[in-house]
Amino acid sequence: MKPRQAPTPLTVPLTVALATLTSIVSAAPPPGQLLSSMCAQCHGTNGQAVSGIASIRGKNADEMYKKLLERSKRPPENIMDLQARAFTSAQLRQIANYLASLAPVESGTGDE
Ligand code: HEC
Repeated sequence: MKPRQAPTPLTVPLTVALATLTSIVSAAPPPGQLLSSMCAQCHGTNGQAVSGIASIRGKNADEMYKKLLERSKRPPENIMDLQARAFTSAQLRQIANYLASLAPVESGTGDE
């Protein structure tokens, strides 16, 4: 009769690999975060403006989505319309949802 096999030496590395993979997956950024980083060069990190341009964090998600969608479809009139055209409607939805999930800007911190 064949002796019962001991756990293979592969068991340990596989367990470690699985744990690592789980932590990578749970560390994935929230939907819309990477796309929203495209807005930072004008609207500031995490949508918090430093000066001049409006902050875009903590606004109403549906309203922002509607504004962005409208801008993405109309003939471009300015630089912001061109930004909106760079994304699909699903991506604009994700961006609006993500930015809306951030706390609104407190007054006197760069918002106009
Ligand atoms: C190249 C610079 C630039 C980038 C990048 C940019 N914007 Fe803008 N954005 C502007 C300017 C300039 C305005 C003001 C002019 C206007 O409203 O058309 C504006 C206005 C806006 C407004 C209207 C603000 C208000 O309530 O009056 C929203 C919303 C907005 N941007 C969202 C975004 C989002 C979301 C992104 C990223 C996907 C983004 N912008 C990327 C330049 C930029």
